[in-house]
Amino acid sequence: MVYNTIYMDQMSKIVSLCKRRGFVYPGSEIYGGLANTWDYGPLGAEVLRNIKNLWWKKFVTDREDIFGIETGILMNPKVWEASGHTESFSDALIDCRECKNRTRADHLIEDKLKNIKVEGKSLTNLDELIAENKINCPVCGKFNWTKARQFNLLFETHIGIVPENQSKVYLRGETAQGMFVNFKNILLSFSPKLPFGIAQIGKAFRNEITKGNFIFRTLEFEQMEIEYFVKENTWKKYFESWKKEMWTWTQLLGIPTSKLRWRPHTEDEISHYSTRTEDIEYNFPFGGYKELYGLAYRTNYDLKTHAKHSGEDLEYTDPESGKKFIPHVIEPTFGLNRSLVPVLLEAYLEEGKRVVLKLPPKLAPYKAAVFPLVSNKPELVEKARQIFNKLKSKFSSVWDERGNIGKRYFSQDEIGTPWCITIDYDTLKNDTVTVRDRDTKGQVRLRNEKLFNYIEDKLK
Ligand code: GAP
Repeated sequence: MVYNTIYMDQMSKIVSLCKRRGFVYPGSEIYGGLANTWDYGPLGAEVLRNIKNLWWKKFVTDREDIFGIETGILMNPKVWEASGHTESFSDALIDCRECKNRTRADHLIEDKLKNIKVEGKSLTNLDELIAENKINCPVCGKFNWTKARQFNLLFETHIGIVPENQSKVYLRGETAQGMFVNFKNILLSFSPKLPFGIAQIGKAFRNEITKGNFIFRTLEFEQMEIEYFVKENTWKKYFESWKKEMWTWTQLLGIPTSKLRWRPHTEDEISHYSTRTEDIEYNFPFGGYKELYGLAYRTNYDLKTHAKHSGEDLEYTDPESGKKFIPHVIEPTFGLNRSLVPVLLEAYLEEGKRVVLKLPPKLAPYKAAVFPLVSNKPELVEKARQIFNKLKSKFSSVWDERGNIGKRYFSQDEIGTPWCITIDYDTLKNDTVTVRDRDTKGQVRLRNEKLFNYIEDKLK
């Protein structure tokens, strides 16, 4: 409990640091904001890009069996009818009659319930709990709830300028469908052999009911997803190997295994397209273990339903036996923005007056900061500028000449810059620089020409 309070305090410090130092800003802030939307500042945008690049390298460019694509946010609405999202992509919402607090029924009762029915959909024992006054409103404390109603999460919009000729479309609720509808294109362009995957990184949109918790659950967010196509009789093997791959990924982000666990979905919560799903959960400061990433066995549900609704042949022909069949699919899915929460929480450290983000160097917004010892000696500034310009052509780097060196170190520590490089009078004499390490605070003197390789080696 004490731990959780401290941890929660850490969360509010991180939210404040993120705003102050340009990682994450509240969305549309000058108009009073828009609940559940956030904007990423220069440093946040860099970290997100670094996570995406690392993911793309690990799961696309370093492998021969995965094809990376990028598909539209707007798709023919028939896609979402076929996939079952217009029908089943919903949550149960419930309103407090007293204070109008609207919340997701399953979140409200997460700890208390098993097997409740909402509009015929098995969820939890919500009605009984409400009838027995066992659940009160977390905002006003009263026991006066409406009945729970199903609420579809797809965002609707319209194509067409003239109102009478508009047609309804959806903002995609998952990137996955863009990959299923391009399955045939990949077969025709690349003739891959099973098993193979299609991957993409992109925005998804959900009309979420439960809001809050910083960037944990938002209306728009980015997903990094893979649809990995396999023969039916091999799905268990690949499910297990993807569990290992996903776990390895969490280690690249610097998340300790002691804060992570796998949790299989219960029958009640599993998505309409899956027969087995397991989540990697992280022990968040708000409410404990919650989903970080998911791994689903989607059977051949999606390709089968798209084949049926589109009339297209989405079968794969086995090159050895000549047999035709619709492959099954394992889907590892990763929320990009959600990843940032544990990354920041695990990196944040206070050491006396020093606040340091011990981000894995690959994720740090700047790899290096370059300082002239003083800013009023033109020869020092000129030399430092030369070194800075060379460095930033290779690594994301930042220039700082304000205040004294100690203050500059403090400032860079707080944003996670792993190496600070100082150019002083010795640099002018012998072309050496001082490199100070963020984590150890140790310093080494290096020849300028070795600087590139020094940082490159550390980033391996
Ligand atoms: N294609 C499968 C799928 O979309 P999901 O569990 O609904 O599965 C995948 O979403 C991942 O996307 C989650 O594990 C989470 O990391 C992230 N995610 C889902 N909803 C989110 C939201 N509203 N805000 C931020 N991230 C979200």
